[in-house]
Parts: sequence; structure tokens; C-alpha cells
Amino acid sequence: MDVTVFGTKPYDAHFLAAAAPSQHRLTFLEPRLTPETAVLARGAGAVCAFVNDQVNAAVLAAFSGFGVRLVALRSAGYNNVDLAAAKHHGIAIANVPAYSPDAVAEHTLALILALNRNTHRAWARVREGNFALEGLLGFNLKGRTVGVVGTGRIGAAFARIMRGLGCNVAAHDPSPDAGLVALGVNYLSLDAVLATADILSLHCPLTPPTRHLINAATIARMKPGVMLINTSRGGIVDTPAVIAGLKSGAIGHLGLDVYEEEAGLFFEDLSDQMIGDDVFARLLTFPNVLVTGHQGFFTTEAMTAIAQTTMANITAFEETGHALHELVAGDAE
Ligand code: NAI
Repeated sequence: MDVTVFGTKPYDAHFLAAAAPSQHRLTFLEPRLTPETAVLARGAGAVCAFVNDQVNAAVLAAFSGFGVRLVALRSAGYNNVDLAAAKHHGIAIANVPAYSPDAVAEHTLALILALNRNTHRAWARVREGNFALEGLLGFNLKGRTVGVVGTGRIGAAFARIMRGLGCNVAAHDPSPDAGLVALGVNYLSLDAVLATADILSLHCPLTPPTRHLINAATIARMKPGVMLINTSRGGIVDTPAVIAGLKSGAIGHLGLDVYEEEAGLFFEDLSDQMIGDDVFARLLTFPNVLVTGHQGFFTTEAMTAIAQTTMANITAFEETGHALHELVAGDAE
């Protein structure tokens, strides 16, 4: 099958080429998928897209005209896809539902440990010959209460890690996980989790009900000085409300691997340019904020699994007319 890969970085090409069976011909393109770049898929049977590619109605209408029959996402999240439009045009959408929940869960822990012990600041100080400890005071994680919103694959892996560190884990999920309950995880209402968490970590998908789940009203119900971590999707957090929370001290630490307006920012080297997004720029001024550029998934194990499942989706679609992990309109993301 001819497959056009959008938004290709060298690492994407490396892992996808290694996983591609010889029956597929991959064309690697650097541009992100937008209504303007969709034309580049002309002649392809399948398109491979990532989290900030726009698989919207305009793009899908264009694909339909070119004969594209499958969009194989090399991601778990699919909030960037118009599934109803895909159905309308008869274009199949496939994702990689689970590749390495541990990769994201471990990155979440990395943000927590760095923020808690101010490792990001200590690193900069030591490089300057400043070995003073003022401002670096942390707290023990053992015995603290960690709130987990969403205990699917990643949230469950994260909850297990935090139980292993001796934390109390309070979780909120419409579908509780019996295995986690057996590990001592307490399922509570969202409000109860907000009220008890010393560290609140978001692992639910971005859906209409979860958009801006973290806002001025929910921040007001959190423990003063809470550590807030988002490695899920940026849109779950109302960033200006979080900035107000940081300024007032309501939020004591903030760790982000995702940002609502990350498209066009994350995954690019913009070090020679001015950052035009004032909200994002403000976030970077706080010493108690640590932002990584959507790298939670970025391990060798996860990239290998993503590439293999993406290729398996394309191969199954070519051979049977159905991808292994096909999404249908109405799937709740
Ligand atoms: P999953 O589908 O296994 O789990 C999501 C869980 O959230 C489910 O248990 C669901 O019941 C729960 N949920 C849905 N609505 C909720 C709500 N209103 N409140 C509380 N819980 C709710 O998904 P998985 O694989 O664990 O991924 C979670 C999210 O992590 C993805 O949707 C994606 O946005 C993000 N992600 C981020 C990555 C990164 O590199 N930072 C990489 C992969 C995924």
C-alpha cells in the first residue's frame, strides 16, 4: 500500500521504516497535515498522522476525493479526528490504543520528582557554581495523597507506581479498576479527589465533558499549594486559570507535558525564534513550573510498539478491509 506519512521527524522515519513490511511504500513528509497540505496525500491509499495533525472534515473531504481509504494514527489519542466526517466519507480511522502506558506513567513520575525536589533548578544552579540550598526544599512523597483522574491504561500504571512509593492514591474514573482497588486505590467523586490530593495527575482523555476540567472553580476546590500534573491532553486544563492559581499560590507546582495550544509549538525547534504565545511564555517564567514538549511517549520501547501497531493496522486493512484497531463515530475520546 502507498502510505503518506505527515509530520515526519527523523525518529518517526527511523522507527516506521524499521517496522514496515516490504509490501508498503512509505513517503515521509515533514509538513503537518492541514487542509492546505492534505493534497500531498494524492495517490496514497493510506495516510499516517500524529497528534497535532488536523484530521478534520475539510481534510477528510479532500482525502475522499484522492481515494485515501485509511488514516492510521500513530497515537492513542484521537481528539484531532472528526470521526463522523470519516464515516461520512467512508474513510477508516485506526489508532494505536496501547503501546507503552509505562512510558507516559514514568514520565509523569519524572515531572513530579523533578518539581518536588527542584531538580530543574538545582541543575541550572550547579552549572553556575551555585551550591546553595535555599529555595530547593522539597517534601517526601511517601504518605502523600496522589489524586488520579482517569485510571485507564496510563492512569492505572501511574497509580501502581505511586502505590509502590508508599503514597495514598485517590482516583476518579467512571469505570473503576478492580485490580487497583485491590492495591488499595480509593475511588472517590471528582470533588473528593480534588479536596484530598497533594498531587493531582490527569490521565483522562480530552472529550467535551473533560475540556477545561481544571478551571478556576475546580482549582478553588483543591488543597492549597497542590501539585498539578498534566501528561494527558492540554485542553483538559484552562491555562489562564492555572496561571492565576500559580500567582495566588493555590497551585504550588505545575508539571505539563501537553498544552492546549501546543500545535505549531511542540515537536519543533523554535530556539531561534520569539515565542508568540503570551500565555505559554508566562508559564515559563514560574520557577515552580516544569514543561516538557509532549515527550511522555518518547521511549525506544514505545516508539517501536507504535510503529509496529501502525504497520499492523495498515497491513490488516489492506488484507481484510479492516484495521486492527479501528475507531468508529461515537467512540468516546
Ligand atoms: P484509556 O482510554 O486507557 O483511559 C482513559 C480513562 O479515562 C478511562 O478509564 C476512562 O474511563 C477515563 N475517563 C473518561 N472520562 C473521564 C472523566 N470525565 N473523569 C475521569 N476519568 C475519565 O487511555 P490511556 O491510554 O490511559 O491514555 C489517557 C490519555 O493520555 C489519552 O487520551 C491521551 O490523551 C494521553 N496520552 C498522552 C501521551 C503523552 O505522550 N503525553 C501519550 C499517550 C496518551
